[in-house]
Amino acid sequence: MSKSTGNTTKLALVGYGKMGRLLEKLAPDLGLEVALKLDEFNNVNGSGITSENFKDISVAIDFSIPEVVPTNAEKIAGLGVNLVIGTTGWLEEFSRVKLAVEENQIGLVYGANFSVGVLAFYGIIEATAKILATQSDYDAWAYEAHHKMKKDSPSGTMLQILDVIKQTGYSRDVDVATNRVGFMPGSHEIGFDSEADTIRLSHTARSRTGFALGALKAARWVVKKQGLYEFSSIWKQVG
Ligand SMILES: NC(=O)c1ccc[n+]([C@@H]2O[C@H](COP(=O)([O-])OP(=O)(O)OC[C@H]3O[C@@H](n4cnc5c(N)ncnc54)[C@H](OP(=O)(O)O)[C@@H]3O)[C@@H](O)[C@H]2O)c1
Repeated sequence: MSKSTGNTTKLALVGYGKMGRLLEKLAPDLGLEVALKLDEFNNVNGSGITSENFKDISVAIDFSIPEVVPTNAEKIAGLGVNLVIGTTGWLEEFSRVKLAVEENQIGLVYGANFSVGVLAFYGIIEATAKILATQSDYDAWAYEAHHKMKKDSPSGTMLQILDVIKQTGYSRDVDVATNRVGFMPGSHEIGFDSEADTIRLSHTARSRTGFALGALKAARWVVKKQGLYEFSSIWKQVG
């Protein structure tokens, strides 16, 4: 049963950093109300995830740090609360989170990138890599730059781009470079180069707003769902 009151769905934020603060600002526009904020002080070892704290919560959104994601996800799933995970860099522990989702029959949306523009960009890369998969004159490179506070490198988005390229049948090496500098929200570039010419595809985030809106829409969508969903497989449905 949804714990929403009126048209407002109550939300818990796990992680109250740059993304958490932006989610709080944008949530009311999407009919969501932030009713609980957990951070590194009130959620040591998942201690803030209690049935008392979550009694009115319909869905939680995690933008925290990779090290705490599996424990937080297990505890939230144990309370029967649905979840969106935007934090990146935790996929080595994916099997733990998957088991918690299945055992507790909750709904979980996770994704390395919640920006609709980036998901469209994956499609453009896929089409180009498919065309060039059999053109051995072309080498590929991939480059990403993010702000210096970002903890994972390469980015989860970059890892997903490399997977998109591989899935097309493009089997040659992709030369990957990363930068962590300044305050940029994130840019990714994929290029194909031959002796004759260069093809360059790029995406640049102007701010974090695109990520936050995607995560909030995913939260609204997952409220009454069960199962595990990668955001790139449902983004066209979330409205
Ligand atoms: N999927 C996407 O579209 C997308 C978009 C943007 C960012 N991200 C990812 O989202 C994550 C957060 O990004 P951000 O820019 O918001 O980072 P941030 O500003 O560093 O915020 C993360 C916050 O989580 C806190 N935290 C640490 N332990 C915690 C715990 N046990 N419970 C709750 N919170 C805890 C951190 O505190 P301390 O700083 O004290 O450790 C920090 O305040 C990163 O993994 C980033 O790569 C994903």
